[in-house]
Amino acid sequence: MRLSVIGCGYLGAVHAAAMASIGHEVVGIDVDARKIDALSKGDAPFFEPGLQEILTDGIRSGRLSFTTDISAAAGAKVHFIGVGTPQQVGAHAADLTYVNAAVDSLLPHLSDGDIVAGKSTVPVGTAAELADRVAASGATLVWNPEFLREGWAVQDTIDPDRLVAGVPAGAEGERAAEVLREVYHPAVAKGTPFIVTDYATAELVKVAANAFLATKISFINAMAEIAEVTGADVTQLADAIGHDARIGRRFLGAGIGFGGGCLPKDIRAFAARAEELGRGESVGFLREVDAINLRRRDRAVQLVIEALGGSVVDKKVAVLGAAFKPHSDDVRDSPALDVAVRLNGLGAKVVVTDPQAIENARRVHPQLNYLTERDEAIRDADAIVLVTEWDEYRRELSPDHASTLTAGRAVVDGRNGLDAAAWRAAGWAYYGMGRP
Ligand code: UDX
Repeated sequence: MRLSVIGCGYLGAVHAAAMASIGHEVVGIDVDARKIDALSKGDAPFFEPGLQEILTDGIRSGRLSFTTDISAAAGAKVHFIGVGTPQQVGAHAADLTYVNAAVDSLLPHLSDGDIVAGKSTVPVGTAAELADRVAASGATLVWNPEFLREGWAVQDTIDPDRLVAGVPAGAEGERAAEVLREVYHPAVAKGTPFIVTDYATAELVKVAANAFLATKISFINAMAEIAEVTGADVTQLADAIGHDARIGRRFLGAGIGFGGGCLPKDIRAFAARAEELGRGESVGFLREVDAINLRRRDRAVQLVIEALGGSVVDKKVAVLGAAFKPHSDDVRDSPALDVAVRLNGLGAKVVVTDPQAIENARRVHPQLNYLTERDEAIRDADAIVLVTEWDEYRRELSPDHASTLTAGRAVVDGRNGLDAAAWRAAGWAYYGMGRP
């Protein structure tokens, strides 16, 4: 099928390449000429496992192309909208400028029977507002939220755990859902749940999922706070409650909390939208979720101060990680980088290392020192702080090896990823999050 994908950021670039990899003919369109140049050459503009391969294959096969020219969308049967919906400057609500611009620029190039499929995460009610404009061009709007996780984006796009399509009522909606089933044929063929809803439900599914995940993380981090004043161990607590199948162990990792381009802004936008709808109190708990999350960064900083005897001034602190999570070079709202920035502000001599995210981190925080080699970063350090649980730090850094390089023997485990007993046995003072 011929497809267009408007917006070639995280979501759009992966979607375009993934759709080409399952046999569609895809054109990716973006206003950013630099991004399009890179993609056209087959260069992934960010680190995402598997993307480089499907990008190169798609371009080589002739099924995948990229352009800044929106008229290239003409002739495609389905047009995916995958532009960003960032947090508004100075407010919590989502900024819909790019969604509106993408739809407006697409309208003149639509033909009767085309489908416009919104994938961006939007406040509930957005699709209903856009639908008339799309219908006036003879096309049908569907809302088809995306649940991909960074680091697993390619796999999640090709083989998602569910597909959701918000469609208009009646035969037009049924036809649109049928076309989307054809688009996602490999997933549909293997029995992936395909849930057809109205617009509002589809929009809400996405924000509800992210709100739930964020709440789950903040719940366990709240338990970590209680553990800290009672001497309990939150990791054991998480294991024990996680055995209850109704609760489940996933997303109960206590630590410095969630970040990234989605969870933080999505819960804020959801709360803001609920306020507009006169239902602010229904998701009032999301403010607590946000507050707990941000407090955990303070806690990590406090532990470093404690570990260094009350002051970090002029102490060398090696910060392991800058990305908001492993397998990603994304530093948007990264708790890891935030901890580094705060320590630096307190007068520590901070050295940050990360296997993938240094370039992006340097762009937003040029004041920090960065080293690509882990061992160079920890050399002569008074304390080590693990803030992104890359295997290089969590599994592959042994306390005995670290001892040969550092000046001090203090380790703060901001992700509860290290073997506390092993570090202690090697003579280290180990500080975890919500652990004695
Ligand atoms: C998230 C959703 O998972 C995805 O479905 C949606 O489409 C986009 O937002 P992503 O931002 O890639 O995906 O990251 P995710 O894996 O959800 O992790 C979010 C943050 O939570 C990371 O900073 C991670 O370190 C943190 N986290 C995750 C925890 O602190 N504890 C956990 O137990 C799990």
